[in-house]
Amino acid sequence: MEEKQAILSEKWKKTIDMPLDSDVFSVPPGYNAPQQVHITQGDHEGKAMIVSWVTMEEPGSNEVVYWKKNSEKKKTIKGKMSKYKYHNYTSGYIHHCTLKNLEYDTKYYYEVGVGQTPRTFWFKTPPKVGPDVRYAFGLIGDLGQSYDSNATLTHYEQNPIKGQTVLFVGDLSYADNYPNHDNNRWDSWARFVERSVAYQPWIWTAGNHEIDFAPEIGETKPFKPFKNRYPTPYKASNSTAPFWYSIKRGPAYIIVLSSYSAYGKYTPQYKWLEEELPKVNRNETPWLIVLVHSPWYNSYNYHYMEGESMRVMYEPWFVQYKVDIVFAGHVHAYERSRRVSNIGYTIVNGECRPVEDQSAPVYITIGDGGNLEGLATNMTEPQPFYSAFREASFGHAILDIKNRTHAYYSWHRNQDGSSVKADSMWFFNRFWHPVAESVNAVI
Ligand SMILES: [Fe+2]
Repeated sequence: MEEKQAILSEKWKKTIDMPLDSDVFSVPPGYNAPQQVHITQGDHEGKAMIVSWVTMEEPGSNEVVYWKKNSEKKKTIKGKMSKYKYHNYTSGYIHHCTLKNLEYDTKYYYEVGVGQTPRTFWFKTPPKVGPDVRYAFGLIGDLGQSYDSNATLTHYEQNPIKGQTVLFVGDLSYADNYPNHDNNRWDSWARFVERSVAYQPWIWTAGNHEIDFAPEIGETKPFKPFKNRYPTPYKASNSTAPFWYSIKRGPAYIIVLSSYSAYGKYTPQYKWLEEELPKVNRNETPWLIVLVHSPWYNSYNYHYMEGESMRVMYEPWFVQYKVDIVFAGHVHAYERSRRVSNIGYTIVNGECRPVEDQSAPVYITIGDGGNLEGLATNMTEPQPFYSAFREASFGHAILDIKNRTHAYYSWHRNQDGSSVKADSMWFFNRFWHPVAESVNAVI
């Protein structure tokens, strides 16, 4: 028994951050070379891309030169540059530039560092929004910058099912775990993930580690580093803040919510979501997916019931509008729920328990990216019935949408080979094929 405990604690010992002189954090060579390059969707339909990068020595060029594959015609677009201070840290020159009116399903090359130390990257735009286009999303959460984080990202890159866009469910760099929220760790994290996010968009959700609220060092503006570094196309969906917004991408309608912004009745987020959900046209985008950081159906002892008040506010809408899947992070482990809802309660009837509900979403917690806080191994026992599968391993998932009725989902843990599926299921669309799924969980 003791030996088993020793093996377990060895396996689940605290993860360790990669030191700052690790290869993955290396600064690109050349004077004032653009670094930390990342892209995200820049409009509502997927015809625009926001390109962001940082220069350290001087502002440098604020332009992006871009061109279609096999085309000689280059376009140049100017962006915006900003800096911010955080306690005793001053950021580099942060550039954001939105490439608009792109053609669907097209490979583009883009160059930053124009006229100084140019670096060229590429991305592929999604297919035209429509019900039967195929599209594969990667799911990553709570990534951080530990050795395990690097394993997760590598595993994602090596997955034979190629994710085309990452849905990132919050908690990016964990810089706030360092003294004075050392923002150099925001820089190192962005250099680490550049190898993926410079080539495919990551869709950002705000987590608690993005808040960076630290009145003890005079930092009282929540989300300051995140907001400066990671723009989102929130205005395109009539949102009034970058932390909640929506996008269409191929066959999917993605709604991003903020666990750490007000969500009660009459708040901006509430009013936005109330108007947003009726706009989703399942004939155009059959797959309705929600991203939020703090999970609503979590059976680990970590962050247990933290998402409860938001669940109470919004769950009836998710059932009414037949959300297909809700992805969350926060808990550093993996869990998939059954299709359940818990919306029968009134203050007198006592009906407060999750019940099977084929109009309800499946809730997936995928906060297992590999951050330095380690795995959440402590589960509530017995496993509640709403929890279909749970395991404390680091990993990532892929949602491969095939058409309007079917999507293949698989979770991949880091300790397996890249093609091994530790949990998988065929999702049936709640609007077009709302029958119960049979689940094949391979352990
Ligand atoms: Fe979190």
